[in-house]
Amino acid sequence: MKVLIFGDIHGNRYAMDALLCQAESLQPDKVIFLGDIIGYFYNPQEVIKSMHKIPNLTYIRGNHDQMFLESHEDRKKREVLAKKYGSSYLLDFSKEEIEFLSSSIPFLEMNLEGRDLYFCHGTPDDIYNGRYYPDSKEGLFILKPYDAVFLANTHYRLFRKQGNSLIINPGSSGLPRDGKGFSFILLDTDSMKWTYNNLDFDVHALHKEVENYEDFSENNKAYLLRRLGEYL
Ligand SMILES: [Fe+2]
Repeated sequence: MKVLIFGDIHGNRYAMDALLCQAESLQPDKVIFLGDIIGYFYNPQEVIKSMHKIPNLTYIRGNHDQMFLESHEDRKKREVLAKKYGSSYLLDFSKEEIEFLSSSIPFLEMNLEGRDLYFCHGTPDDIYNGRYYPDSKEGLFILKPYDAVFLANTHYRLFRKQGNSLIINPGSSGLPRDGKGFSFILLDTDSMKWTYNNLDFDVHALHKEVENYEDFSENNKAYLLRRLGEYL
């Protein structure tokens, strides 16, 4: 079975469109999104629209999705978050879009072709906010010996073997922080082999869009331009 896994899209509609094209051509049996539609880039609504076009999509909630859902009825709280993470926290979402964000699940455990798999945004002991980096010295707390544990949140690609479990982070599709590109992975549960794949899109166009956007947070805007600058 082919499973496409991605995370941390963060309102980057260019990356999401590229991912949708990949999903259409690769025809995976399942698509698992490891969370974070909200925060940083400015088009989470377009991202949601594209996600609706992907069949067999499972949406696991990210820390930013959680922060948004906890604050969306309180303008003051939203402004505090927007000062840190940009204007997407201040957008007006429709009832359907809020319902979609609310429909995300905290984590996923499943058995595919005899493989025990676990998925969450953070880490198993801190599902939204946990961060497990490639240079983390300690082992990862895992609930049981899964064949593979998939994490996101750091925006760093990671692959590590712990006992008989693989620990894998696909990196970020929308805002990579490790300089390795906008990525997703494709897993074959039969052979338990996977590949990292990069998304190809017009970074110049996105850079221009960010430049022209009036972000509630100048810091966020500067941060995005700096990150995108690595790919110009
Ligand atoms: Fe994130």
